[in-house]
Amino acid sequence: MMKKMTYNFANRKVRIFLATDLLDHLTETYQTTHEGFIIADEKVPKHALDKLKNHYDIKHTIRIPSGDGSKSLSHYEAIIDVMVEKEFTKATTIFAVGGGMIADLCGFIASTYYRGVHLVHIPTTLLSMVDASIGGKTALNFQPYKNIIGTFYQPKAILIDPNLLDTLPKRHFNNGFAEIIKIALVKDAKFFDDLLHDRLILEDIITRAIELKGAIVEEDTFDKSVRHLLNYGHSIAHALESHYGTTYLHGECVAYGIKQMSEGKPYYKDLLTVLKRYQLDLDIPYKKEALFKHILHDKKRSKNILSIALVDEPGKGYIKDIAVETFIDYL
Ligand SMILES: NC(=O)c1ccc[n+]([C@@H]2O[C@H](COP(=O)([O-])OP(=O)(O)OC[C@H]3O[C@@H](n4cnc5c(N)ncnc54)[C@H](O)[C@@H]3O)[C@@H](O)[C@H]2O)c1
Repeated sequence: MMKKMTYNFANRKVRIFLATDLLDHLTETYQTTHEGFIIADEKVPKHALDKLKNHYDIKHTIRIPSGDGSKSLSHYEAIIDVMVEKEFTKATTIFAVGGGMIADLCGFIASTYYRGVHLVHIPTTLLSMVDASIGGKTALNFQPYKNIIGTFYQPKAILIDPNLLDTLPKRHFNNGFAEIIKIALVKDAKFFDDLLHDRLILEDIITRAIELKGAIVEEDTFDKSVRHLLNYGHSIAHALESHYGTTYLHGECVAYGIKQMSEGKPYYKDLLTVLKRYQLDLDIPYKKEALFKHILHDKKRSKNILSIALVDEPGKGYIKDIAVETFIDYL
């Protein structure tokens, strides 16, 4: 059955459709008379793109090399070049088919081409289904700075077909669970308990994670207050990503970050159990002082104050402003 959710993110209506085999039932999802432009990760299976082409009026398709290196100004420029050359107008819908890299890159393109053309996300990684495609953050990297260029821009629709995960490598599948476990811990004790006891099927896990993120983004679309809750474990995660480059995946660093932030809390053992199920109970080695240098560049820092999310008991995340130098105690 097709699940349909509608969110209002700062007066932008975003429709989310979710079903196993969704790509075979596109008539029940988002419709448009626009000319379509597919921007897809090179690893997305061809049959997925064929199904989109059979349903929408697709004028052109391009494939993007996989990896975060494609979230760059040079790829941005190359794609805009194609759009100009193919004479795409304002009446264009970009279909972004891929993981978080594609979501961020296409979001930025859609938000800037003619000051905004329509965007539809078709996430193909678990991380993008539950996180990157939801909430309207777009980004490019500007070496060595990750996500330093970006806008807020909402897609018209997000089409989620869990079948697309069939070809996703296991490590990337597990990676998506870090953000799912995080949002359960921060917002929904029952969801955390369901994850702990492995009671839910994947489709329901994806749905619940989206509902929780959707509610937070509706309340704080532009990341000024409660949306900071989504950063639970992320100060450490981002520092690890800066320190290690691409050695560890984002979710793996987030998992490590939430583990560190949860040490000594009553749910710590349960957290380790869930992380272990998805091979996210990694020990990532580092020297405190070296990692702390990266914390000083945290986006959530303003002057000497760092805004961090904390969870004392599952479902009850809160935000606390701390003096940045005291964060070293969490490392
Ligand atoms: N905008 C946001 O709110 C937000 C949130 C979290 C992460 N992000 C961004 O998302 C990116 C990470 O996302 P990701 O983990 O999805 O990484 P990704 O997009 O790089 O995809 C991971 C890997 O899976 C491959 N892949 C994708 N779909 C596939 C499929 N169906 N079958 C086989 N292989 C497939 C890709 O080629 C890549 O090798 C980062 O750039 C991060 O900054 C953005």
